[in-house]
Amino acid sequence: MSHASSGLRPAVQAEARAEPGGKSRETEVVAGRTAGDTKGRVEAVGNRWDAWLPLIEQALTDACGWGVDCPTRLGEAIRYSLLAPGKRIRPVLALMAAEAVGGQIEAALPGAVAVEMIHAYSLVHDDLPAMDDDDLRRGRPTTHIAFDEATAILAGDSLIPLAFEHLATRVEQPGLAIACIRRLAFASGPQSLVGGQAEDLAAESGGEQTLARLEAIHRRKTGALIDAAVEIGGLLGGGTPADLAALASYSRPLGLAFQVVDDCLDHSAEDTELGKRTGKDMARGKLTYPGLMGLDAAQHYAETLIDQAIGAIAVLGNDASRLKWMAEFVRDRTR
Ligand code: IPE
Ligand code: IPE
Ligand code: MG
Ligand code: MG
Ligand code: MG
Repeated sequence: MSHASSGLRPAVQAEARAEPGGKSRETEVVAGRTAGDTKGRVEAVGNRWDAWLPLIEQALTDACGWGVDCPTRLGEAIRYSLLAPGKRIRPVLALMAAEAVGGQIEAALPGAVAVEMIHAYSLVHDDLPAMDDDDLRRGRPTTHIAFDEATAILAGDSLIPLAFEHLATRVEQPGLAIACIRRLAFASGPQSLVGGQAEDLAAESGGEQTLARLEAIHRRKTGALIDAAVEIGGLLGGGTPADLAALASYSRPLGLAFQVVDDCLDHSAEDTELGKRTGKDMARGKLTYPGLMGLDAAQHYAETLIDQAIGAIAVLGNDASRLKWMAEFVRDRTR
């Protein structure tokens, strides 16, 4: 698959707009590495993390090799859901967090794959008729449209144990594997992702329409998994407790901003650019930031959260520069 049109390109355009004629961030990163460090140069050009995407795609593809007992159609639906052209923000964040604490990005790959599996399952189920009832995802028919509802439910179901099995088998150090499994289990469970999804649906039928309730929904349904991606990356990169605390102060506002921007894009973007239907939230009576505070105030709130996220990683030094670019991408994304 090509990531040339994966939505990562607009980040660079937005940044170019933000810094006309200014010192490019590529220069900053290259300057932060030793002269002749060509790996740093290659990774720093282009789209800030483009060079990592083939690594992530390969790891996701490799994770799709299960035994003959997996029914063919189910296997196809799992692959269709996981390998569809998503932005891969959560796996990229895991790699960035490992780098930010001075670790190897490769060490974070099992965490990156596992988090993307949980994310992919959550999208398949989120699109089902019983939930948001969507027919377009990542520019393609949703899994239940491309296959059928039962197969989509089962493909989503499959991705959950696959994620935990992946961590259990691919993270060599048992203590570290258990720490990652616990972290991901919490982030995907009833107090987090699933609970947020339940409340998101409940809020369609009324009840309190307050910012406090909305923030609690968004932190759980979306923020929790972004927190887990960053923390698991930090753990696998060998981060210290102080590193992990700095990473958490980054991911918490970032995760909330991610869903605030998602709400804004549902309000103002086009289906073709976003790769999913727009204008659905208001039609379904969802509780959203633009719905509660208006589009301009919601966009401004997202900017404030991104500033908080960027402020939190200053202590991690130059290795965290990619986390800063990601925060800017989340703020400026158009897809
Ligand atoms: C969509 O997430 C679901 C939300 C939590 C808002 P992404 O915008 O990261 O979706 P993909 O992975 O790029 O398709
Ligand atoms: C989805 O939120 C969050 C999860 C899938 C957990 P949305 O329902 O707003 O996501 P989109 O807009 O369908 O991608
Ligand atoms: Mg939803
Ligand atoms: Mg949805
Ligand atoms: Mg949405």
